[in-house]
Amino acid sequence: MAPLVWFITGANAGFGLLLANLALSKGDTVVATARSLSKFPQSLVENPKAHLVETEITASATSITELVDAAAARHGRIDVLVNNAGYGHIGAVEEVSDEQARYQFDVNFFGLLNFTRAVIPHMRKQGSGVIVQLSSGVGILGAHGGPIYSASKFAVEGLSEAMANELKPFGIRVHIIEPGIFRTDFLKPISNGQNVGRHLEGYVNLEEMLGGLHGNQPGNAELGIQRMYEVVTGTGLAAGLEDQLRFPLGSDCYGMLETKLKMLNETAEKVKHVSLSTDY
Ligand SMILES: *[C@@H]1O[C@H](CO)[C@@H](O)[C@H](O)[C@H]1NC(C)=O
Ligand SMILES: *[C@@H]1O[C@H](CO)[C@@H](O)[C@H](O)[C@H]1NC(C)=O
Repeated sequence: MAPLVWFITGANAGFGLLLANLALSKGDTVVATARSLSKFPQSLVENPKAHLVETEITASATSITELVDAAAARHGRIDVLVNNAGYGHIGAVEEVSDEQARYQFDVNFFGLLNFTRAVIPHMRKQGSGVIVQLSSGVGILGAHGGPIYSASKFAVEGLSEAMANELKPFGIRVHIIEPGIFRTDFLKPISNGQNVGRHLEGYVNLEEMLGGLHGNQPGNAELGIQRMYEVVTGTGLAAGLEDQLRFPLGSDCYGMLETKLKMLNETAEKVKHVSLSTDY
């Protein structure tokens, strides 16, 4: 397989960094973004195949388009966009402020949308490309404790599901990766009291519930990243699955998928007579 050119957002830590390292180890080129160049580990800084870019995910569409165009010009193409940057804001609906809710959508949805929009024209011109959207188990099943986070991931899922059909004729594949709870630093800010709403009496203390999981998450991030690489390249366990939109990762996430299927099945069975009663 010819070396690929990857564009990975939020590639300074967690899944983004692991994926960047894996792609680099295969001889691929990686355009990696982070909020600040100082956040990149030395190994990436020293790797000649890593093209490091400083940007906020919430930067203006103009500046995002400029940096994507510059990356495509420098490397001749962009084969894979991985919209990895994101975070989870935890808290019940009335515990999360409007400002916090909007920022959650700015990063997880509108930022992802702007990067997607900037990359599509290049992939269309090439007649090929893969767009990987990092969603979550909570993008399948509304999560207790993270309704705003869930909503932002449902938005990503809806966008990506619809977009997959519209981009297929151009040879562009879209995949939604839905990780369960993996052992990355994702929960660290929550255990430190960041990204959580105010505390109201009567609601579950999510900081305790989720923060306490940090370090004990069931998902192995290295294996998760291996699967993501296979999804993009259509190899290994993902061979022949190029047409699959969704990839839930982890037994916890697979359980969420089963719960959702059961819910939808029950809806389809039980409310059918209501649904079918309203046509002319
Ligand atoms: C995305 O692009 C639009 C302009 O097209 C801009 O208004 C917005 O600030 C950008 N970023 C976010 C997070 O909305
Ligand atoms: C719901 O699940 C049952 C059992 O698997 C199946 O027989 C039925 O067809 C499903 N209903 C719908 C609407 O898919």
